[in-house]
Parts: sequence; C-alpha cells; structure tokens
Amino acid sequence: MSAVILDGKALGLRIEAELAERVSALKESGVEPHLAVVLAGDDPASHVYVRNKQRACERCGIKSTRIDLSNDVTQKELMQVVANLNSDDSVHGILVQSPTPEGTDELAITEAIDPSKDVDGFHPANLGKLVMGQTDGLLPCTPAGVIRMIQDADIDLSGKKAVVMGRSRIVGMPLALLLAQKGIDATVTIAHSRTQDIAEICRSADLVVAAIGRPATVRTDWIKPGATVIDVGINRVIDESRASGSRLAGDVEPSVKDIAGHMTPVPGGVGPMTISMLMSNTVRAAEMRLA
Ligand code: GUN
Repeated sequence: MSAVILDGKALGLRIEAELAERVSALKESGVEPHLAVVLAGDDPASHVYVRNKQRACERCGIKSTRIDLSNDVTQKELMQVVANLNSDDSVHGILVQSPTPEGTDELAITEAIDPSKDVDGFHPANLGKLVMGQTDGLLPCTPAGVIRMIQDADIDLSGKKAVVMGRSRIVGMPLALLLAQKGIDATVTIAHSRTQDIAEICRSADLVVAAIGRPATVRTDWIKPGATVIDVGINRVIDESRASGSRLAGDVEPSVKDIAGHMTPVPGGVGPMTISMLMSNTVRAAEMRLA
C-alpha cells in the first residue's frame, strides 16, 4: 500500500484564495492588511524564506514591507525597529525572521512585539492562551498548518495515539498542545533527544510528527501500517546528481510512504502550509483590529 500524499502546496493555495476574499472585504472597509518583515543579516535560507512570504502576501493582496538590517545590527536597534512597528497603526503583523544575528537576544525581541501583531504566534501571551485552551487567536504557523492538513484530510485523531518528535517552543510544544485540545482529542507523547525506545513508541502511534531537523531519522520500520506521518523537517543534504549539488530532505525516510496511510512530502508539504498560516494570521490580526 502506498500512502495518500498530503499536498500542502495545493491546500495552501486554496486557503490563500479564501484569504484573498477576506482581504478584499477588509479593503472595502478601508483596512489594508499589512505585514512587516524584519530581516537582519545575510543568512541565505532566511532570504529565501522571506521572499516566499512576500510572494504569498502578493497572492493574497496583503501589503508587505521588508525592513533589511545589517548583520551587525545591535539589540537596541532591533528593539527600536520593533517599537516603531508596534506604534505604526498601518501595520497589522510583525515578523522578525529567525535566526537573528549573533549577539542579539531573540527571545527578548519576540517578547517586545505587540501580542496583537504577533503573527508568528511566538509571544508568551499567545503561547499562554494555547495552554489555556484558547485556540481562536494567533497560533504558531507550523503547528496550525499541520492541524489544518490533518483536518482537511478528514483524519480522526479522537482517542488516538500521537507522537510529536521534537519539543521546540515554535513547533513541537505548541503542536502537542493543539493535538491534545478538546475537539482533536489525541493522546500525545512528546519525544526528544533523551527519549528511550523511540522506535517502539512510534510503532504504537496512529500519528507521528517529525520535527527534529535531522534528515531521514524516522525509519520505515518505526511506522505502524496505515499511520499518518507528518514531516516538518527541511534539511539541505548533499546530492551530487543535482546541478546545485544539494536537495531538500525531510526528517522521515522516503520509503515510509510504502507503509503509512497518509504522509506529507518534502518539499511541498508542511512548508507551504506554514506560509499560508502566516497569511491567515495577518488577515486575522487585521480583522481583530476592525472588530
Ligand atoms: N525562521 C524559520 N522559520 C521561521 C518562522 O516561522 N518565523 C520566523 N520569524 N522565523 C523563521
């Protein structure tokens, strides 16, 4: 049996088409949704991610402004940029692309963003709401995208076992909370680098989410036949058969598709969904201001 491939690119475009209609309605009410992206330094991957986010804004009709800062920007300067964006009423969403340059305090920057403009959903106030079971605000984009894919494929997780591999504040932890919330009702295990018997734990699961950042870590014999496998990993690996000399690989061994019931591809799975959820949060932030 070959898994049903969950096409994040196609679903993301569908979501963006719906968002474009909400953007039109907002514009008719005199509000132009506006995302400000702060990009500090010259990390090549960050430049690609930011370009993709700006293209998505164009598809949805969202105004985007990019603020480029040098690699030697100071913490004080970054905090001032955030303060200016916080007080700019024309801006609905603020995103400071991670990683910020060495010597800057990313957590302090996250905490400085006005929670009502925190379209990444990383501010402690927004993560705290999630712990309290309030899921109608600004949710972290990757976890929200994973939930959306599962719901779109009509996968019922009620009472089922889910394993989230990875405990980051951006993906693993918030996703575990979302999977356990009322309405989704999965029984969630958070696995991490110290977890013992990981193969055994994964084999018992109806859903395995890999958010580790190490290529091909999840093996085919770790997966229960028919289980759903969500691959959050985006790893650049050497591939001399390509003109570029490299390609993108997920955290899951590709042959898992021969045993899983549903699986996300890399690229074209969770990645585009993360961007669509960013667009969704930006529109939501603009609508919340109007409300
Ligand atoms: N760097 C890689 N992914 C992300 C993301 O989702 N948000 C931000 N702010 N930076 C990132």
